[in-house]
Parts: sequence; structure tokens; C-alpha cells
Amino acid sequence: MSLAAADTEAAAPLPAADQAQVLAAVERLRDLPGALLPILHAIQDALGHVPAAAVPIVAQGLNLSRADVHGVISFYHHFRSAPPGRHVLQLCRAEACQAMGARALERRLRERLRIGFHETTADGTVTLEPVYCLGNCACAPSAVLDGEVRGRLVADALDQWLDGCGVAR
Ligand code: FES
Repeated sequence: MSLAAADTEAAAPLPAADQAQVLAAVERLRDLPGALLPILHAIQDALGHVPAAAVPIVAQGLNLSRADVHGVISFYHHFRSAPPGRHVLQLCRAEACQAMGARALERRLRERLRIGFHETTADGTVTLEPVYCLGNCACAPSAVLDGEVRGRLVADALDQWLDGCGVAR
């Protein structure tokens, strides 16, 4: 059976362009050792998340069960199952950053955004995600703002970034 005929009955169907991206990632990377993670990264890079309907396609392409694929997506915080907001803020929650004030930043973010980790503001502006060490510990606390690693973060700098995203105070 071709990958295009993979069973996607359990999830909302993928738009044709998205399905083509998923199929392309599977076809391109399936022969790599440990192909599952590179494929999931490629899908998220292309679509912003790993849609539920991609799971059976990936599972079939790698001869894995859907549970295997879903388990890996669930295990790694990096993978999203829903589209992110227009801006993504990833706050480091690992030890060095926590010791240098990340918890206070987290409180400030929760107050201002009124969301928790793995959530997106109601207007779709910002998605807040945890990360666990960015390799930037010497400049803790650290975060990634729309893909850009920032260190020695203070609440005012985060507020300015959120102001720039159009988040109301
Ligand atoms: S602990 Fe946060 S960057 Fe390493």
C-alpha cells in the first residue's frame, strides 16, 4: 500500500498541501537510522506542529504502531500537536535558569498572558512553552523568543518583547 493511502480515519484530515509535506518527509528520511525523530522534526519545521493525522502516515511509513509514534511525540516537549500562536516564547525551566530567576519570569508571564505552558493566548498571539536547558546556562535565565535565544532575561525585557507582539498589558 502506498503511503498516500495510509489510514487517517482517527484524526481530522490533513489539507492536501500538508499531507504532501508529511509524505515528503517520510519518503526523504525513512531510511535513516532512527528515522522517527528526524521525520517528526521535519514535519514540525514544515507545518509548525505534528498534526494527529500525520501519525498514521508516519507509523505506516516506518512500520511502527501509531502508539509508538504518538508516544515519542508525547515524550518530547519540543513537539506540538496543535498549531502555535503567531509568536512562540520558550522559557527555560532547567536548574541553572531556575536558580537565576526563571520562576519569577514564569509567574510574570502567566499573569500577563493568562495561560500556562503548552497553551496559546485566546487571540492566537503567543504560545508559551517550556524548554529544559538551551546550553545558555552561563547567561541564565534564558529563553527563546521566536527562534532567537536570549539570555540574562529580566521581566522588563520580556514585557517589551510582549509589547512588540501586541500583547495587552
Ligand atoms: S539551564 Fe537554562 S539554559 Fe541551561
